[in-house]
Amino acid sequence: MDKSSEWLNIVEAVKECKECPLHKFRKNPVPGEGSLNAEVMLIGEAPGRREDETGRPFVGAAGKYLNELLSKAGLKREDVFITNVVKCRPPNNRDPKPEEIMKCSRHTNRIIKLISPKVIVTLGNHSGRYVIEYLGGGRWYGVTRARGKVHDLMVLGLRVKVLPTYHPAAALYNPKLKGNLEMEYVRLGEQVTSVNSGRRSKGRTLLDYFT
Ligand code: URA
Repeated sequence: MDKSSEWLNIVEAVKECKECPLHKFRKNPVPGEGSLNAEVMLIGEAPGRREDETGRPFVGAAGKYLNELLSKAGLKREDVFITNVVKCRPPNNRDPKPEEIMKCSRHTNRIIKLISPKVIVTLGNHSGRYVIEYLGGGRWYGVTRARGKVHDLMVLGLRVKVLPTYHPAAALYNPKLKGNLEMEYVRLGEQVTSVNSGRRSKGRTLLDYFT
């Protein structure tokens, strides 16, 4: 099956999904969007109000900031693929529960396998724990300790560099986090460039910065 057909099947499965209580509260499910051939995949937490209204990930305030962060990496939204660990909005934007994340994992994992990214950027604690601990078999000590390092992991049979970062909303809430977060995206861009050109870029690379 080609990638577009598999993506349409995933979208349909998410629309029909009633595996966890979150489906009762949604206006629209938010399966994700972006390039099906992306090398970089970003995994956030959960849709908020604007995402629930539009059915698209990261279109609210955190999404605007995420677009700025991506531009620091020399990337546009359409170059990457973006999804969340849960595809339906939790009531009052509460945190997704572990059992909701696990129920949604059948969609999340299908999306990761479809995209087969080289780099996964996890946004915040829930996503970091899911990818690094649950899928990657690593230990999760929280985003503050995990960020700033490349975690080279096997994720669903794929060798992936996982970059845990703060959630963009955390940096909007606490602007002191912005410096580190923005630098992570600058270095992400350097890494993507060096992968694509088949040679390491001059000066410090993402690996130099994160390890
Ligand atoms: N925050 C998230 O984690 N995901 C979205 O889609 C929007 C805001």
